[in-house]
Amino acid sequence: MNEIERAKGILKEYNQDHIVKLFDKIEESKQSELAKQVLNIDFHNLSELYDNTKKKIEIKEREIKPIEYLDKAKLSATEKQKYDELGKQVLENGQYAVVTMAGGQGTRLGHPGPKGTFKLDVYGKGKYLFEILAENLKEANKKYGKIIPWYIMTSKENNQMTKDFLEKNNYFGYDRNYVTLFIQGELPLLDKNGKLLISKEMKIKEASDGNGGTYASLRASGMLSDMKERGIKWIFIGGVDNVLLKMADVTLLGVAIDKKYQVAAKSVVKANPHEKVGVFCKMNGHPKVIEYTELPEKMAEEVDNKGELKFGESNILCHLYTIEAIEKVSVEPLMYHTAIKKNSYIDENGKEVIPDEPNSYKFESFIFDAFEFFDDMAILRGKREDDFAPVKNKEGADSPKTAKELYEKYWERQQENL
Ligand code: UTP
Repeated sequence: MNEIERAKGILKEYNQDHIVKLFDKIEESKQSELAKQVLNIDFHNLSELYDNTKKKIEIKEREIKPIEYLDKAKLSATEKQKYDELGKQVLENGQYAVVTMAGGQGTRLGHPGPKGTFKLDVYGKGKYLFEILAENLKEANKKYGKIIPWYIMTSKENNQMTKDFLEKNNYFGYDRNYVTLFIQGELPLLDKNGKLLISKEMKIKEASDGNGGTYASLRASGMLSDMKERGIKWIFIGGVDNVLLKMADVTLLGVAIDKKYQVAAKSVVKANPHEKVGVFCKMNGHPKVIEYTELPEKMAEEVDNKGELKFGESNILCHLYTIEAIEKVSVEPLMYHTAIKKNSYIDENGKEVIPDEPNSYKFESFIFDAFEFFDDMAILRGKREDDFAPVKNKEGADSPKTAKELYEKYWERQQENL
């Protein structure tokens, strides 16, 4: 049986007859490409994901408790010095790497192109998000006398654009030998009846599988082996769109080392008890980020004896891991969350349909779902005004306007402190 026949067989088995028909409509050279795509899809897994969209989510018995954290601003000078020294050693020994997750679609921002290529209107001339990240890392390189290997995760969709953009801008002065792009995994989109969508290129429409795919993609793309060869011991993973993200915070690193944690994260305190952010907690004895939708209202408002919110440490995608921790979670299956999104497709008559309403399921895993594979993790509370200025929405909260203000104010304060 040749690959086209094998592909058709699988499609029939999983009720995807419209794709079987597609083979007859496309030229021969494309048929082989389509067959290869079909043979790469895990249909069993996909049909399970689809079945899950029809099931009521059963909430397992769970015990939610606050997680312990340290507040960076409240550390004594001696403590801070101890942590900083421990962290500094790792950077000075060249044992630290940074991963930027840049595989998202950035649908809310609506920028045509990878989010990292968005120019934030700061200081008149403006700065690209990738430029801001590069500057942050170059500053750390200067401080610790080593170049941090920088791994950028892209998606199939935006990889070439990201590469071209970085080339054109000479990697914003970052040593080219220390920047590696790798592509994250994808999963097919399904319509509400569980049918695969067809793209304009007459292929099965797929989309990146969420930032939880980072771990498995680091392994599959060979980045993990590359890190090992370079002698990396600690890996920072962060998003592409927080212009105040500190990717080489020696205090955070030092806390993790001192307390012998394999995983650590920086948090900022919730703006108010009902802010729509995920917060760190302990669930059934394991660290976890609980979504605001899942945190009971009473708990969201609870304060401790110091008057602090018990569940106030928001997750800002500022994560740190030992290489062993990444190894471990790169082979663990993470749960998938379902989002209903608008996706255009080609219908049976070969016409493109651009839906007005969400029409398809996108399956995504979240990076923080891996925390529960550990007994504990270090949480260091940073300061919102120093650590968090996300560019998420086109307008309003967490938009270019708010990020610009926060970024400029932060750098003004740094100048004043010199
Ligand atoms: P978000 O969840 O904010 O998604 O990603 P997004 O794609 O940037 O924006 P929307 O939701 O479509 O508007 C948080 C971080 O995770 C990365 C993003 O690039 C961002 O840095 N991410 C997200 C990936 O790398 N891959 C994914 O599949 C999803």
